[in-house]
Amino acid sequence: MKHLAILGSTGSIGRSTLSIVESYPERFAVASLAAGRNVDTAHQQCLRWRPHVVSMATEELAADLRRRLRQDGLTTTEVVWGSEGTVCVATLPEVDFVVSAIVGVAGLEATYAAVQAGKTIGLANKEAMVAAGEILTAAAREKNVALLPIDSEHNAIHQCMRAGQRNEVRQIWLTASGGPFRTLPIEKFDSITVEEALHHPTWVMGQRITIDSATLLNKGLEIIEACRLFDLPPSAIKVIVHPQSTVHSLVEYVDGSLLAQISVTDMRLPILYALSYPERIPSDLRFDMTALSDLHFEPPDLERFPCLRLAYEAAEKGGAHPIALNAADEIAVEAFLKRAIPFTGIPATIEQVLETTPETHPATIKEVLAADRQARELAREVLAGREAHYRC
Ligand SMILES: NC(=O)c1ccc[n+]([C@@H]2O[C@H](COP(=O)([O-])OP(=O)(O)OC[C@H]3O[C@@H](n4cnc5c(N)ncnc54)[C@H](OP(=O)(O)O)[C@@H]3O)[C@@H](O)[C@H]2O)c1
Repeated sequence: MKHLAILGSTGSIGRSTLSIVESYPERFAVASLAAGRNVDTAHQQCLRWRPHVVSMATEELAADLRRRLRQDGLTTTEVVWGSEGTVCVATLPEVDFVVSAIVGVAGLEATYAAVQAGKTIGLANKEAMVAAGEILTAAAREKNVALLPIDSEHNAIHQCMRAGQRNEVRQIWLTASGGPFRTLPIEKFDSITVEEALHHPTWVMGQRITIDSATLLNKGLEIIEACRLFDLPPSAIKVIVHPQSTVHSLVEYVDGSLLAQISVTDMRLPILYALSYPERIPSDLRFDMTALSDLHFEPPDLERFPCLRLAYEAAEKGGAHPIALNAADEIAVEAFLKRAIPFTGIPATIEQVLETTPETHPATIKEVLAADRQARELAREVLAGREAHYRC
């Protein structure tokens, strides 16, 4: 039996993880949960799963949840809050597997604490890897902790890598759906609406990752995540657009063989793989082979999607640049969702922030978080100028 901590339990990955636990009660149990602001869902999850500990983002939200649980007669669940609360959830002695699925850099501290505490990690929170991948992988090596990717592309690479040695890999190919604007004429990008950008053609996900998939910044973050997870330089990570999202990614070996992972477009599969690794266990997530009759691949268009170019540049520079790439994007996506900037304002903001990002190399989580705060402030300044410009 594996006892899980689920960080981001109320989100898309968190809920898919709980549906896997529901399907395999003899294998997985919930030990602790961490959520952000969604008290209603956290409340329902506590009643269903009766975790030892649950964390909410703020003291007020935690008090609200505690009151509701007491009214329901559930006194065995401790309610904590804030980043300390999330760390407590991730490092609980009863936990042996942590699903890291908080969105953004907010998930970093708890993921690092879980590695330090020797927990196996199922990693969905790519932003943690982008901001502090070198620190996380070094700590995982030192503690002999497995970092198992849940992101579907990295999960596919992890599976394909089991067929060969690391020094036999020539390069890897990350597939990208291309998002909803793959074929939209570039002159129409300025008038893309929030609703259009939130309509992903193949995946149902949280808001930030959906917008990131539309700008292809998500693929950019995945390039950096792949460099860190698989210890490869950015030049060995290629992106290929594949609108059907059927081939989840490929590994190219030195002899010219390409191995691909193919499965249904359903995040429960990579979650199940990570939870059950190194075993494979039966599931009903079957693939319809006739779907292979219509597969399309094309190179990405860097003019249409400048975020991809910016991510490669940040990956090459390393240090504070990937941190700034992620932080600036988080702030710019927020502004786009509030309709304060157009879709094209997202890459423009990131580019401006990266131009002024210092050539520093944060070496601790504290330094990473400081660089992240600095980049956010910079992004807010850039946005204040841009919003004034867009209002004119
Ligand atoms: N969804 C996918 O298919 C997918 C695929 C690959 C990778 N990922 C990655 O997985 C992560 C989660 O994505 P998602 O789509 O599941 O996002 P989501 O649906 O937006 O969920 C985000 C989760 O993070 C929680 N959260 C946000 N801020 C928090 C804070 N300060 N403290 C504690 N919890 C906080 C949210 O809580 P509340 O809702 O309670 O506020 C929610 O549980 C992201 O890093 C994403 O890039 C997702």
